Amino acid sequence: MPRIDPERLLADLRHLRSIGAQGIGVVRPAFSAKDMEARRWLKSRYEEAGLEAAIDGVGNVLGRSRNAGKALLLGSHSDTQPTGGWLDGAMGVIYALEVVRALAADTSTRGLAVDAVSFQDEESRFLGCLGSRSLIGALTPAMEEGVVDNSGLTLAEALRQAGLAGVPRVNLPRERYAGFVEAHIEQGPQLEDAGRRIGVVTGIVGLRAIRFVFRGQQNHAGTTMMARRKDAAAALYELAHRINQEFPQVAGERSVWTMGRLRVEPNATSIVPGYADLDLQFRDAAEAPLDAFAAVIARLVADMNARGGVKIEATPTRAPIAPTRLDAGLLQHIEAAAERHAPGNWQRMPSGAFHDAGIISAAIPAAMLFIPSIGGISHDFAENSRDEDIVLGCQVLADAAASILAEANARA
Ligand code: GLV
Ligand code: MN
Ligand code: MN
Repeated sequence: MPRIDPERLLADLRHLRSIGAQGIGVVRPAFSAKDMEARRWLKSRYEEAGLEAAIDGVGNVLGRSRNAGKALLLGSHSDTQPTGGWLDGAMGVIYALEVVRALAADTSTRGLAVDAVSFQDEESRFLGCLGSRSLIGALTPAMEEGVVDNSGLTLAEALRQAGLAGVPRVNLPRERYAGFVEAHIEQGPQLEDAGRRIGVVTGIVGLRAIRFVFRGQQNHAGTTMMARRKDAAAALYELAHRINQEFPQVAGERSVWTMGRLRVEPNATSIVPGYADLDLQFRDAAEAPLDAFAAVIARLVADMNARGGVKIEATPTRAPIAPTRLDAGLLQHIEAAAERHAPGNWQRMPSGAFHDAGIISAAIPAAMLFIPSIGGISHDFAENSRDEDIVLGCQVLADAAASILAEANARA
């Protein structure tokens, strides 16, 4: 069985961390100068590992094995949240590189075809899972049109600034692959709380996101009596409160919702706000609670609009992500590898975060494995995992990759 090189793995992971490092965190949002620098570095690392490497027209870094036979695609994303941790996405990307090298160094696995990928914009600066959607042909021109980041920069301009305008976009050659495996930090506390070292991911939650726009009348905060006001912020607070009261009544076991961004204009103490907007995101492992949340939203907005005064519009801000079940056949290989390296110390679990694997699973069989996150912290500079867990997860992935490909080639 192939042996990964822990020092080489950790050194490359730390190098990637240094590109866009801010204190202990990383700021490398999709298409930023640091993101593109990291992608060029990865491409050169893929080449050194013997892969044919390219950055495609949406910024995906793709490394293709020269070996024959069924291939396995490994990887994750190297873009980060606006203030991100060093492992979210980056770990799975460097695992893929290390597994390619480890399999190439072992006589029993050196003929196996492992491809590596770093997807672009998993973290939704412009369009969540942009790179994986593009790779499977699920990114339509209509989805890209008019897409802007929080500063108003268009996706088209970001592609141009990154030197990607006109660069061909790669389409996944589906018949080439036995599947895709994404390794990731858990980003939550379940593994740590249970004292387990590997999570075998059974499914990924679905997600929808809505932006509410509130249009009222800006006015003087001293002279405008309460009954005459059309206060956009007051409508925002009321809607947010009613959502928090009503969602628990229709929520599923794994339902979560977040109102993590809002704007009040002109954001001044002595002015009744004339405009506000609010982003709501909700997730669950099943469609039914997501549909129920959508129905609650439609009812609340209609109810508040019927009163007159502030006018509320609700618009989806992203293509929905459907809940996904991961491939049972691939998961068995990960379980067997986890049992070999962490006997009795792994568990099956769903993912509360979304991942590119959820998108890729629409095209080819996909699976995921998790390692523990210290304190369950992620999407924060403080995100971290123990070196021993990082090393263990990569070894489990290497073994699983070798056995997935051995089986796929025996069948072919
Ligand atoms: C992906 O990073 C997510 O927000 O789940
Ligand atoms: Mn991630
Ligand atoms: Mn993330």
